[in-house]
Amino acid sequence: MSHDDTATATPATAGTAREELLEELERRLDAARAGGGAARVERQHKAGKLTARERVDLLLDKGSFVELDALVVHRCQDFGMERQRIPGDGVVTGYGTVDGRLVYVFAQDFTVFGGSLSETNARKICKIMDLAVENGAPIIGLNDSGGARIQEGVVSLGGYADIFLRNTLASGVVPQISAIMGPCAGGAVYSPAITDFIFMVEETSYMFVTGPDVIKTVTHEEVTKEELGGARTHSATSGVAHFTCANDAGCLLAIRDLLSYLPSNNLDDPPLGPTDDDPQRIDESLDQLVPADPNKPYDVKKLIHAVVDHGRFLEVQPEYAKNVVVGFARLAGHSVGILANQPAYLAGVLDINASLKGARFVRFCDAFNIPLITFEDVPGFLPGTQQEFGGIIKHGAKLLFAYAEATVPKITVITRKAYGGAYCVMASKHLRTDANFAFPTAEIAVMGPEGAVNILYRRELAQAASAEEAARLRAEKVAAYRQRFSNPYIAAERGFVDAIIEPKTTRSHLVRALRQLASKRQQLPPKKHGNIPL
Ligand code: HXC
Repeated sequence: MSHDDTATATPATAGTAREELLEELERRLDAARAGGGAARVERQHKAGKLTARERVDLLLDKGSFVELDALVVHRCQDFGMERQRIPGDGVVTGYGTVDGRLVYVFAQDFTVFGGSLSETNARKICKIMDLAVENGAPIIGLNDSGGARIQEGVVSLGGYADIFLRNTLASGVVPQISAIMGPCAGGAVYSPAITDFIFMVEETSYMFVTGPDVIKTVTHEEVTKEELGGARTHSATSGVAHFTCANDAGCLLAIRDLLSYLPSNNLDDPPLGPTDDDPQRIDESLDQLVPADPNKPYDVKKLIHAVVDHGRFLEVQPEYAKNVVVGFARLAGHSVGILANQPAYLAGVLDINASLKGARFVRFCDAFNIPLITFEDVPGFLPGTQQEFGGIIKHGAKLLFAYAEATVPKITVITRKAYGGAYCVMASKHLRTDANFAFPTAEIAVMGPEGAVNILYRRELAQAASAEEAARLRAEKVAAYRQRFSNPYIAAERGFVDAIIEPKTTRSHLVRALRQLASKRQQLPPKKHGNIPL
């Protein structure tokens, strides 16, 4: 490891001229800025990655970064480490602004011991985490690290545990955002996992608890780094990552965009965005969006884009559990979290992954005062042994729990199917939802007509004189059931929906409801914490 002895040498003596004192400071700061040296920086660039400092500069408003602890060095005396001390010790930490708002940031420097976590660099990270919580500002971690610094042993592990504790205590107090911008193994993945959102960079970032070599030894499976823990795997298969970006610069811009929807802390409101999109805007196309045939799909994202300000929707986890769509948008300038069933994917059914994705999103919005808008078109929970054995009962219950517990303003629009348990779960009136609307196409019932008729008329259908007679009887009963239950009016008669609305007027109904709820106050009973069915 390249090393500048002057960087950590004894301070200049009292008699030294002022210029020499300043030169010495400059030498030390230069050594910190040089990180692991030119060759390693070049290797970082060749790998398509920016350095820690370049990343911080792109993330923050120009010139706003204030660095802390640039001169911290490690204390390890083993494996010749005492001769390799780089000021900063492999992590750049400090604070700055994004769109003028305070944020705290740490960026691991892969050019210094592979960005591995030492005792002292953990302390640096903990220091800015503590400051972030005290001052109520988001924490952004730019991760590029080979995990625990092997030469340091348990003090490095302790450093990780110190960070995990702070991640946990800060959860729900300030937004925590992790970007994975290189290989992250072992401890380097658990801190991001506790944070609110994970960004990954395609082709240069990996996350795994144990890498391909260990897996081969233990389970004899052969798998590449990319297949095991690349951006595609974590965005589409495991659901660990929330956003993927083509490169470092795109990732840092995307973090800035996400922050624009979020408050700085749990006592703040999200910042107000532009308000030049007419709140009363009518969209005639919405009256034709839901097909007359209840079994035909449509893309719920068309509805979302049509109603939100300027059609701008920041989708979270777009590749994972596509049967539910979640993300952020604005209505009359106010941040909202949107959760919508997606009839264009698996008919919008709720399965384990969709329930987990939805529940986590609802809890984030509730923790950070972001009102929730739900667009509901759901035929129910997915039946089958795979789902039952996988625990759909407890996972579906997470979504139910999250909605029931949420005290932020909640608004629901039932566009078509609201069947069975899914009716209850998806922000029904009964879960303290504030404003419930339905389109005239809504069907609110215990189950769909075919399923209901099969159960209610099983004996009559079995006793029919012929197959034709059974088919005629079934069609007659289905039509009668549809007539009676496949509409929103029984729910409207009970007050379970507040109004049946013309789809083209959805935006103005949402904006008015949101304004009415602007100073909503709702409390949970005093308790240590609930016991969400994990
Ligand atoms: C010290 C490390 C290091 C580590 C990498 N380096 N990881 N130094 N501790 N954990 C150093 C290398 O020695 C090398 O130094 C430089 O970083 C770059 O590493 P390379 O291997 O040359 O880079 P690359 O080929 O890109 O591979 C990156 C890597 C690999 C995939 C991250 O280095 C790796 O597998 N590292 C070990 C990962 C790991 O198992 N970590 C421990 C996890 S256990 P030079 O001087 O050559 O530049 C853990 C426990 C915590 O974290 C658990 C808490 C729950």
